[in-house]
Amino acid sequence: MQIARTITELRQLLAGRQKPAFVPTMGNLHEGHLALVRQAGPLGDATVASIFVNRLQFLPHEDFDSYPRTWEADCAKLEAAGCDLVFAPREQDMYPEPQTFKVHPDPALADILEGQFRPGFFVGVGTVVMKLFCAVFAGRPEGVALFGKKDYQQLMVIRQLVRQFALPITIVGGETCRAADGLALSSRNGYLSEAERAEAVQLSLALRTLARDALAAADALPAHLPGLEARAMDALRARGWQPDYLTVRRRADLQPPAAGDALVVLGAARLGKTRLIDNLEV
Ligand code: PAF
Repeated sequence: MQIARTITELRQLLAGRQKPAFVPTMGNLHEGHLALVRQAGPLGDATVASIFVNRLQFLPHEDFDSYPRTWEADCAKLEAAGCDLVFAPREQDMYPEPQTFKVHPDPALADILEGQFRPGFFVGVGTVVMKLFCAVFAGRPEGVALFGKKDYQQLMVIRQLVRQFALPITIVGGETCRAADGLALSSRNGYLSEAERAEAVQLSLALRTLARDALAAADALPAHLPGLEARAMDALRARGWQPDYLTVRRRADLQPPAAGDALVVLGAARLGKTRLIDNLEV
């Protein structure tokens, strides 16, 4: 497995490749990332992963400084998963000057849910992903990039970015990987204490209950949803969580659904100091 630290090195190492398959990450890799790397293998002629903790997508009070950096372990895992090339730029290589040009996703999609509770998050994500795509794919006829469905709204923002800029990149969404008890794997699960880790699965259980209640109320969903969502959040609060949102949305655009729409249930909640997100397509 080769390692590139700069965009120039990356382009040199990718010379001659026609169709890279790319998995962007912020490191501290878990089975969810590695499943994407394995899935990438047959989709392109080089499997590339990036490891870059992107300051632009963190709010000042968030965990940029403490975000786990586990370089040696990540490299060993990537190599075992069949990655050919890791792009791990230092901050000064990725952002050699202040990044004043930014990608501003459509507020209708990016200023709700995660974007409401983490203002600017999708500007940071859109900007770094565009820059990573330029680094990996520029000058190539086509490419594939893989993102986990656990970050459901992020995946939708990136699909829209690729569509609206007509980038020759196929976006593939990987299924959420879960621990044996059902907790969605996340780099941030490592922040949980033992007791919190045992409790953490309650977020996905709350989403399941909300999905079941929404299906039961399908005939008059818009009228029932506010009550069902409030009940789901209250149930988590009663267990000591601080929910940001638990909500049922239309899969197509994450807006409130009408009767008959395909649905996705999404949630974000804080347990102690750890903010977890999860979702469930219904
Ligand atoms: O999902 C992530 O890990 C990050 O948001 C991404 C896509 C690598 C951009 O920094």
